[in-house]
Amino acid sequence: MKKAIYPGSFDPVTLGHLDIIRRSANLVDKLIVGVLNNNSKSPLFSVDERVNMLKEVTKDIPNVEILSFSGLLVDFARQHEVQTIVRGLRAVTDFEYELAMSQTNRVAAPEIDTIFLNTSLKYAYLSSSIVKEMAMYGGDISKFVPAEIIHLVYDRYGINKNSSKEKGEM
Ligand code: PNS
Repeated sequence: MKKAIYPGSFDPVTLGHLDIIRRSANLVDKLIVGVLNNNSKSPLFSVDERVNMLKEVTKDIPNVEILSFSGLLVDFARQHEVQTIVRGLRAVTDFEYELAMSQTNRVAAPEIDTIFLNTSLKYAYLSSSIVKEMAMYGGDISKFVPAEIIHLVYDRYGINKNSSKEKGEM
């Protein structure tokens, strides 16, 4: 059985993440989305909230499982007997960080490889940080995050957006 892990903070999940999840789920028998439980980053959403959001937006993809992890990614991968890590590459600015991380992971766990999927062009500059920046000031985030979670992001900033287009169901 071919398995892979797609790890990240997903604070919150974006359409760019979802695009990588769908495409990598097509390449393997089982894809585990690993949500980093890292208190030091003081995320906008708790790890349980992030896991639930991901479960909601991936519920139509049968071979995807959403799990949280803390500690080292390679330990999490070994625990689940996964030898492939998937990461999305947006622009060249991602490259150095991603290369350092994948090289470090490879030194720590030579049996685990990282593969990179290039992000679809329309999401090339999209990030969770940009979503938060837009939402914080009441900007339209409907083109950036799945419909089901739009209202959760606005709610977190105490912003009331009532238009039916922007209010996802969850
Ligand atoms: O979406 P992100 O925040 O860029 O994801 C980063 C993530 C979760 C993949 C990375 O921070 C990670 O793997 N953290 C766990 C600790 C670890 O194993 N670090 C790798 C050594 S550099």
